[in-house]
Amino acid sequence: MSRTPCRLALPLLASLALGACGEEAVPAELRVAGGDAARGRIAIAEHGCGACHVIPGIEGAVAWVGPPLMEWARRSYVGGRLPNAPQNLVAFLLDPQSVSPGSAMPALPLQQGEALDIAAYLYTLGQAPHVPAGQPLAPGEAGTQPEPRIRPRLDRPEGRPLGQ
Ligand code: HEC
Repeated sequence: MSRTPCRLALPLLASLALGACGEEAVPAELRVAGGDAARGRIAIAEHGCGACHVIPGIEGAVAWVGPPLMEWARRSYVGGRLPNAPQNLVAFLLDPQSVSPGSAMPALPLQQGEALDIAAYLYTLGQAPHVPAGQPLAPGEAGTQPEPRIRPRLDRPEGRPLGQ
């Protein structure tokens, strides 16, 4: 099954789509024991993570204060410090400063269960089990992309170098 339809379906059929094609596609080492991605999606919306992050599948999560969380399963590090693994992500979410001292990510009032659920959701983003974390996808590996993965900024005339 191609992953693209799952992603496209997220905004429309979030909980159904997650049940149908989200979590079971997550590779074993990125599965979060006790975490539920559908609940995590709701917790992400409730805690306003989208005020600072781009998060696919979360309505209104289009801010660039922090790094975009798209393709999270392919990321090598959490907070630039620890290998990207479920227990490290959960530790970061519960207490960003403990993982990444001086981090601009605020400590949010998350319950342990909510952090597990949020981590489970983030690992449904961009699973590419056959490609090592951090490696670019070869042509065709990402499936059919209906639009560029990172859209050009609208406030900058296309083609003009940054800073001009
Ligand atoms: C006030 C803005 C703000 C809010 C709200 C916020 N974050 Fe962050 N977040 C940041 C910043 C800034 C960073 C980068 C700092 C770092 O990586 O240490 C970050 C980093 C992260 C990272 C690590 C990114 C990486 O590339 O390693 C994750 C994961 C994350 N945030 C998830 C969340 C989740 C989930 C929520 C909601 C529960 C949330 N953030 C709420 C600002 C925010």
